[in-house]
Parts: sequence; C-alpha cells; structure tokens
Amino acid sequence: MTSNELRQKFLDFFEEKGHKVISSSSLIPDNDPTVLFTTAGMQQFKPFYAEPDKAPYASVASVQKCLRTSDIEEVGDDTHLTFFEMLGNFSFGYPEKKDSYFKKEAISFAWEFLTGKLKVDKSRIYATYFKGEKGIPEDKESLEILKKIKDLKKIEPQGFEDNFWSLGTEGSPGGPTVEFYIDGIEIWNLVFNEYSLQKGKYEPLKHKGVDTGMGLERLLTTLNGHKDVYETDLCLPLIEKIEEISGKKYKENENLFRIICDHIKTAVFAVNDGILPSNKEAGYVVRRIIRRAIVKGHQLGINKNFTSDFVDIVSAIYKETYKIQADKVKKELESEEERFRKTLKMGLAQFNKTIQNYRDSKGEKVSELYTGEAYEFEEILPGKVIFDLYQTYGFPIELTKELAQEKELDVDEKGFQEEFKKHQDLSRTASAGMFKGGLADSGDPQVVKYHTAAHLLLAALQEVLGEHVHQKGSNLTADRLRLDFSHPEKLTDEERQKVEDWVNDKIEKKLEVHLDECDLETAKSKGAEGEFTEKYGDKVKVYSIGGDLSSKEAVSKEICGGPHVENTGELGHFRIKNETSSSKGVRRIKATLE
Ligand code: SER
Repeated sequence: MTSNELRQKFLDFFEEKGHKVISSSSLIPDNDPTVLFTTAGMQQFKPFYAEPDKAPYASVASVQKCLRTSDIEEVGDDTHLTFFEMLGNFSFGYPEKKDSYFKKEAISFAWEFLTGKLKVDKSRIYATYFKGEKGIPEDKESLEILKKIKDLKKIEPQGFEDNFWSLGTEGSPGGPTVEFYIDGIEIWNLVFNEYSLQKGKYEPLKHKGVDTGMGLERLLTTLNGHKDVYETDLCLPLIEKIEEISGKKYKENENLFRIICDHIKTAVFAVNDGILPSNKEAGYVVRRIIRRAIVKGHQLGINKNFTSDFVDIVSAIYKETYKIQADKVKKELESEEERFRKTLKMGLAQFNKTIQNYRDSKGEKVSELYTGEAYEFEEILPGKVIFDLYQTYGFPIELTKELAQEKELDVDEKGFQEEFKKHQDLSRTASAGMFKGGLADSGDPQVVKYHTAAHLLLAALQEVLGEHVHQKGSNLTADRLRLDFSHPEKLTDEERQKVEDWVNDKIEKKLEVHLDECDLETAKSKGAEGEFTEKYGDKVKVYSIGGDLSSKEAVSKEICGGPHVENTGELGHFRIKNETSSSKGVRRIKATLE
C-alpha cells in the first residue's frame, strides 16, 4: 500500500462515519503559547474540548503533520522520527452535542478500520486500557467495550505512564487511553478526554471528547511488512538520494542516513511553514536540526552543500498532500548551510584538538575541575570550550554534546551556562534582548522551570536515598530535565514514588526561591550543594528553596548560576518519566513538568 492510498482510506472511512475531513494545520500552533510546534493531531482542536459550542462540527478527522523533538536522541532506530504525520479522528461535546460520540463508537471505529478496511489479521492485534492510578479511576467502561470484541485476543491493563495522555501543558485536555497494538507495536492511541490539566491537577471536564492518533509512517511500515519506517515511500527516495550524494551504502551507515533523512525532511516542512533557523525558540530548534544533519553528512564524507538538494524530493513525495514552496525553502536551507559550513571545518578541528589536549593530560585536568567525589568514569568538556564552539563556530550546544559523547566525554553544561551569562552581561547593552529565550534555551521560561525542578529533584534524591547522592551532570530542554546522580542501584518503585511525591509536595507548598551571594567556604559551611566548585570566583551564587542560605527550613541549597523561578508554585506537576543507568555508579532520571 502507498502512503497516499493509506491517507485516503483513513479519511474516506471516517467521512463515511459522519466525520468532517479537516486539512492539516501548520507546524506553528495557532494561538497556543504553551507549545513551540504542532505535536499532535488534536492541537488545532484543543479549545473545542473545553468549549464544544465553538466547534463547527461534532466529529472530525484529519491527517496532521507533526514535529516532535522529545525523542530526537532516538532518531536513527527503526521507528522514531521528528517529522511524522498523524491520522486522527476526534469528537467534542459528548453527550450534548449532536453527532458527538465517545468510547463505544471510537473503539468500534478503530477495530473496524484495522480489521475490516485494512484487513489486518485479528490474531495480530491486542489492546491496552487504563487500570487506574494517581487518584484517577480505572477506565472500566473501555474495558467492558473491549471485552465485547469477539476476536480481540488480549486486553492488557496499564498505568498512568502508558495509558493516560495529555499535552502536559496548562489547560490541556487529557484522559485515559485505549491503545491498539499490531505485532506488539503500538499503532493507535485513543484518548478519551474527560479531564483538563489545571495547575498540575487533572480536573474533570464538563464535556467529554475523543482524540485519536495513529502514526502514518509506522502503520504503513506494519501493513507492508517492512522492518522500519525508512523502507516506506515516505523515506526511501531520500535514503537513495543520500546514497547518490555520499557515494556510501545505506546498509553500512544506517544511523547517519536515517538521521539525515529525518532531519532534512523536518527542516523542509518547518521552513515551508515559516519557521526559519534562528537563535530563538522554534527557530533555534530548526537551526539545531539542520546543523546536526550537516554534521552527520560531514561524517558521511559529504563536504559540499547538500541540504537543498532534497527539497524537490520531499516535494515530490508529498505532492498529493502538501504544497512545498520549493524555491523559498531551498534558499533558506542554502543560506543556513552556507553560513554553517564557513566555520564547520575549523570548529571540528578546534573540537578535535581540544579533545586531544585533554586525552594527553588525562587525569590531572579533570580532577582540577571537580573537587567533590572523584569523577572516575568520564572526563568533562569545559563550558568555555563549548561556549567558544557556539560563539565562534556556530555549534549548538546539543551538537557539541553529541560529538563529545561520541568521544566518551561528558560536557560541563553549568560552566557553559556561566560563560553564556558572562557574555550576556558583557554585551547586554549592545544586544539587548538578543539572547532572551535563546541559545541552549537558557532564558526560556520552561527551561528555567526545569532548572528549579532539577534542584528539587536532587534534594529529593538526597532525602529519600541518602547523603551519598550528588549531581553528576544535567541537561535541560524546554521539554524535560535530565539529571545524572551518584547512586549504586536502580530505584525501587517505592523510592521513585517517594522522590516524585517529595518534589510535588514542595511545589504544592509554593516555596520561595532565594538567591544569596557569598564566598565558597560560607556557602559550603551552610550546607550548599556544589558541583564544579573550583571554577567559581571569589563570590558564588547560592539558590535556596523554602528559606535563604542561613535558614534551617530551606529544602534545597545549591551553588548555581541560575536563573530560577521565584516560587516553586510556578512549576506545575512533576513527573519522573524514566530512571536508567548512566554509567557505573551513576543513575539518570528524565522528568517532565506538566
Ligand atoms: N493526542 C494523542 C497522541 O498524540 C492521540 O492523538 O498520541
């Protein structure tokens, strides 16, 4: 089956079922400052869940282009993409609104489409439903509906993490989900919006609604019996073009090819929708994606401008669905690539030289940087180097981090933020506002929130696990925080819950965040947690939560350059997404704020 056939089958099916077919909206969300990109089909319909009277139709269906960077590190595997299309059917205002529907119809439409229309063998399909968790009751209604499907072999109960969905931002609708799997791969997510996220809590919605989403690329892969999304007609021509340009074989360089294919396609669609590469917010993300594709191309041996060569191919792949303004997109990609290529080679040479110097002096320089517990497992690329790579050579920090990781080096992000701030202070008058919300998201309000949440998380870990816990690295984006910390083993479910609850308790208590400046010794003697302490000057900044540096009530005290929120009440609901091993004796937590 081709992608065009599949889109059409989906829309025809739901049209027959009384849905109004709506075109995809832009990748820039309309009037929603809480998100940078359209990440799901429901985005353009979001207001209709709370105010169904405003919806011109009770039931709609769409194929929505989406851009998601939360899993960017996973791109290169069989299924993850930053640009994808979502097939979805939606309903608003149940039961009052005429022709609206809810669980019974949504589940039966999905089953009928998969088994009747697409003729997927029933024995390949199973479903999951929400078993109830976090004070939200089990979705018994869906369970009963699923039980009535005669040939459905398996129904699995799942918790909040897997079978509850919302955008995670203030005011977002959300609810329990039913998910259909084919051959063990999640294919279709049916969300039953019965709640709205209000100040970190899921409050019941007056009207109920349906939001379903099914990844086009993944479904097409499954239906055609392919192993990965790059074999579909949505990607294959791009893979072939990379082979032609690079002279290399896809099978021998799968990871690089896949990242280039995905990222260039994302860049084409983003630029086409008017998101131009820049140092701010969405534009920064697009710049980062383009530059990453260029570096991956460089690693494949491509040394000339190549990104704009893909525009016509992307345009041809999607010609029946989206109009790509090829000339405009080519021009933007060319100028971005031109700019980056001017410094790419020198930047890489600089990077490699720095690494070489470090390797040569392995040991000493590292311990100079770190005065706490010995950093036995890795070296650190100093903030100054990362900043110079950005400032002089245009390397986004994420890119430098990735290059460093390839060399098994960690990066000093805090040091980078310090350098960045120093630079900002120096050039504040000249560039007033230029950096706001800009590079590495350092001033982005969402990142600032994650920064404070990271302090709370570290304090919570020390509280629950013990004093041996210290920070071993962190990474903050507008979508999540990542914290590496010393601890010998996996957290138990109970410990994880305690940590999460502790943080949420401090958020609910609306604690003030205080800033003190003092010398390092004073900070230490008053119990401030610090990391790369040697690098600080005469005075250090200490951020304390729930009291100032001298107070006994403060729940967290950390030496840190900031910035932070003023009050923990601004953070929203804290949730640990996963907890994994980072390296020997070091655990890694990824967490979000909702
Ligand atoms: N909004 C849900 C998702 O993104 C279903 O469409 O998975």
